[in-house]
Amino acid sequence: MRAWVVRELGGPESLHLEEIAPGEPAEGMVRISVRAAAINFPDALMVAGLYQVKPELPFVPGVEVSGEVVSAPPASGFKPGDRVMALLDSAGLTHGGYSEVADAAPGSVSRMPDEMTFEEAAGFTLVFQTGWFGLHRRAGLKPGETLLVHAGAGGVGSAAIQLGKAAGATVIATAGSDEKVAVCRTLGADHAVNYKTQDFVEEVKRITGGRGADVVFDPVGGDVYDRSIKCIAFEGRIVIVGFTSGRIPQAAANHVLIKNYSVVGLHWGLYAKRAPELIPPAARALLDLYAAGKIKPYVSIRLPLSEAPRALATVAEGKSTGKVILTV
Ligand SMILES: NC(=O)c1ccc[n+]([C@@H]2O[C@H](COP(=O)([O-])OP(=O)(O)OC[C@H]3O[C@@H](n4cnc5c(N)ncnc54)[C@H](OP(=O)(O)O)[C@@H]3O)[C@@H](O)[C@H]2O)c1
Repeated sequence: MRAWVVRELGGPESLHLEEIAPGEPAEGMVRISVRAAAINFPDALMVAGLYQVKPELPFVPGVEVSGEVVSAPPASGFKPGDRVMALLDSAGLTHGGYSEVADAAPGSVSRMPDEMTFEEAAGFTLVFQTGWFGLHRRAGLKPGETLLVHAGAGGVGSAAIQLGKAAGATVIATAGSDEKVAVCRTLGADHAVNYKTQDFVEEVKRITGGRGADVVFDPVGGDVYDRSIKCIAFEGRIVIVGFTSGRIPQAAANHVLIKNYSVVGLHWGLYAKRAPELIPPAARALLDLYAAGKIKPYVSIRLPLSEAPRALATVAEGKSTGKVILTV
């Protein structure tokens, strides 16, 4: 099988396309013939050795795929030919997603709805689960509240905008270019701000009549976090999702106190270990929203597997919108 292998940590150029023997799947694993694989921002961090999870070298990156089942343990409930989507364990990526074949634990495999394409399925789970847990579990977003989504045209941002609208919130999105601002509007944002050319703090205050945003969904950090605390509402919640800006901001406890707001962290992957029972209900709710036409992965770029380094570089440099998908 063809797979992109990382033998030395570095940038996207450290990926090498190799022909490797698939071997037998580890006991209990579902083997999937990959049809599409998502590029996720953390993949770039992992390839560079900068992610919190550091797989042993050599490894095949990619934690999210869709495809057809090749083989599965009888107790898993899957059979050859089933159309599935799966998240792969980032700690053991001997058979990661940038590949023709991937292995996944049965608990992280789910059947694709008939109407869902392989490209959509590869980009569905991670961003929508992250958005769901961030907005509902961590921030308790309520209908009628104002949600501010930073980097709204990005992967998790594009999911958060749609989930915010589906939850009955007024959604303000920010993005780093006019093209991305247009994407945020297409995704359903009520207001969208180019935070490179406009002061989003003033815009949020203007839109909310000075009250501020009840929930801030922040995958960017750095200056964006520092500015967000200037427009957080009384009893607002800032959800820390990531640090694509490259700077981890410092939360000032005195400021949290005097303005009565909360800063809540979200590490979605930890739910799989600490509270796995919460994931299937979220998955069912997300599939219901998909079936109702309220959410849909925004796939902006489809590239063949052979273009994985270029696809990864596009995401790592913040140039992409929505999901970048490798097709196999
Ligand atoms: N906490 C969790 O459980 C969890 C789960 C999934 C992902 N994440 C994290 O969420 C973050 C976003 O992931 P994603 O998949 O949505 O990524 P993405 O699609 O690449 O979007 C990231 C966006 O961040 C913005 N950005 C600002 N400064 C940037 C910079 N210096 N370099 C690159 N991008 C920059 C860009 O949008 P603008 O141009 O609009 O600023 C970019 O489109 C990542 O840090 C990822 O690790 C966290």
